[in-house]
Amino acid sequence: MGHGSGFGKTILFNEHFVVYGIPGVVSAIELTASAEVRRTEKGINIKDERKGAIGYTQKKLTQQKDSISRILKALGLEPELASLEILLGGELPGFSGIGASAASSVAIVRAIVDEYNLGLSKERINGVAYEAEKAYAGNPSGIDNTAATYGGLIWFRKSVIGRSNTIEKLSLRKPVEIIIGNTGIVADTKAMVEGVAARKKRNPVKFDQLFRQAEDLAFKARINLIDFNLRKVGVLMNENHQLLQEINVSCEELDYLVNLAREKGAYGAKLTGGGGGGCMVALTPGKKLQEEIATTMKNEGFQVLKTRIGI
Ligand code: PMV
Repeated sequence: MGHGSGFGKTILFNEHFVVYGIPGVVSAIELTASAEVRRTEKGINIKDERKGAIGYTQKKLTQQKDSISRILKALGLEPELASLEILLGGELPGFSGIGASAASSVAIVRAIVDEYNLGLSKERINGVAYEAEKAYAGNPSGIDNTAATYGGLIWFRKSVIGRSNTIEKLSLRKPVEIIIGNTGIVADTKAMVEGVAARKKRNPVKFDQLFRQAEDLAFKARINLIDFNLRKVGVLMNENHQLLQEINVSCEELDYLVNLAREKGAYGAKLTGGGGGGCMVALTPGKKLQEEIATTMKNEGFQVLKTRIGI
């Protein structure tokens, strides 16, 4: 039997913009997905035991099967011939926006590599997981699988000319509390990415301007994260949310949770991941602030994760 795991993540700056080569910042969170792989005689069977959002597992099933066949191909194994039982678990729930698909892909890649004794480097594991991500995101930037593979706080820039992506670990003075609030809407990242592409095509001037602002913001965020200037990081997260609203990837429920977190004292809040539902993230340094905001959201009926960035 082979075992593997992958980190969940939250994108702190520039989801969507990263698809076009704008830098972004992502952090792994403390929750991981895990996979066990066993060779069998009866084709490929997936048993998904993750704590899912209602409907998440069912809605993602076709994409999940596609991702597994991409993994096998990328590893040089024949999907039609492989007979595997794949058991998915771990503490990372199946919410949209926290890298559940990428974390499970990395976990599955690692478990297959372990089962077949393939001995792959982290870089190669990341590359195979990227192929798997295509099933979920169409034209993914690679930021999700990178966070799921390496963990930590990462400065990420996709190469748009086919070179290697920039993956740089940033160090945070100490881990910082955040909360992740779930709208409960299962979002389709692929459709959201395609929507941005279509709107960008229709409004090239407006989008170019927004992309420049996003780039400028990423560099400011980087400096302030390294300097541990959390108040400023929060302000920049708010600004980033506004840019994401302008490219139309937020929704009423996300805006509601973002505003609620800010009203209750979060340093900053924004949507995280593909948007159109899924999750938001709020910077809530200290256990007390984190607990207060989490309780407010829970009392309103939302699912909330309390975790930390920069671990
Ligand atoms: O929805 P998630 O958690 O898969 O995040 C997607 C991030 C995007 O920037 C929207 C897409 C990408 O490939 O970078």
